[in-house]
Amino acid sequence: MTVQETLSTAVKSLTDEPFYLPSGDEIAIFEQCHTRKLAVMLKGPTGCGKTRFVEYMAWRLGRPLITVACHDDLTASDLIGRYLIRHDGTVWQDGPLTRAVREGAICYLDEVVEARQDTIVVLHALTDYRRILPIDKTGEQLAAAPGFQLVVSYNPGYQRMLKDLKPSTRQRFVAMDLDFPSLDTEVHIVAHESGVDNATAHGLVSLAQRIRLLGDRGLAEVPSTRLLIAAAQLIHSGISIRSACYSAIVAPLSDDESMLSAMRDLVDATFV
Ligand SMILES: Nc1ncnc2c1ncn2[C@@H]1O[C@H](COP(=O)(O)OP(=O)(O)OP(=O)(O)O)[C@@H](O)[C@H]1O
Ligand SMILES: [Mg+2]
Repeated sequence: MTVQETLSTAVKSLTDEPFYLPSGDEIAIFEQCHTRKLAVMLKGPTGCGKTRFVEYMAWRLGRPLITVACHDDLTASDLIGRYLIRHDGTVWQDGPLTRAVREGAICYLDEVVEARQDTIVVLHALTDYRRILPIDKTGEQLAAAPGFQLVVSYNPGYQRMLKDLKPSTRQRFVAMDLDFPSLDTEVHIVAHESGVDNATAHGLVSLAQRIRLLGDRGLAEVPSTRLLIAAAQLIHSGISIRSACYSAIVAPLSDDESMLSAMRDLVDATFV
């Protein structure tokens, strides 16, 4: 794998198959979207496997993957490109979106809802039948290369009173809901990613499923697969199960003492 990283952009050519266990027919749907040149929106809570899924699909489809972490300062120029002033004159430098459009890469805009509306609008002509990227500064109308595909992620769980995607943006994507996997699948993932045995992974996933129920009782953040893997990695390196669960699962989720103590009780009840 070759990785070139700047602050908010990563370019990957995936040569090794990323480990990804599907939960449903998401692989087939994504593949059809790629063939039919449809843009994809991945919805789901943090740490549920959205990034891993895109990496896996990029590998499977043999496309480079260009990822941009969106934030509210991200401008259209950050995506499209800009003129740079050098000692010998000015040169045009493609932004990550333009590069993906030219190279036929998969462009993954992570947390797209964080980007400003005027930035998101540049995606519109790319995500309908036109498949073009107008570059105002150079006067170019860039037609997307055949393998180009736009993928965005979106975490609908966060409270976003002011920020949401406009219908005219949302309706340009095929949306897939990626939620936490079933118990058996999640056990397999946690064991694979950390090296712990199946029984330990099973305990961690059962604990997570119990803590996730506290979501209905006021726990704002529920444990993701990512947190379970972190706990499992600590256990694999010799930390006791309880300490690993307290520090890698319980403590990151809340600062509320009653929630913390409810979660610690669940840890003690799960690993007696
Ligand atoms: N279905 C899966 N197959 C394999 N690994 C998975 C799967 N789901 C989650 N994982 C593991 O969980 C970790 C977290 O997943 P990932 O980083 O893809 O989450 P995410 O949905 O992109 O989160 P965020 O919204 O915070 O970016 C991965 O690094 C991987 O180890
Ligand atoms: Mg991610």
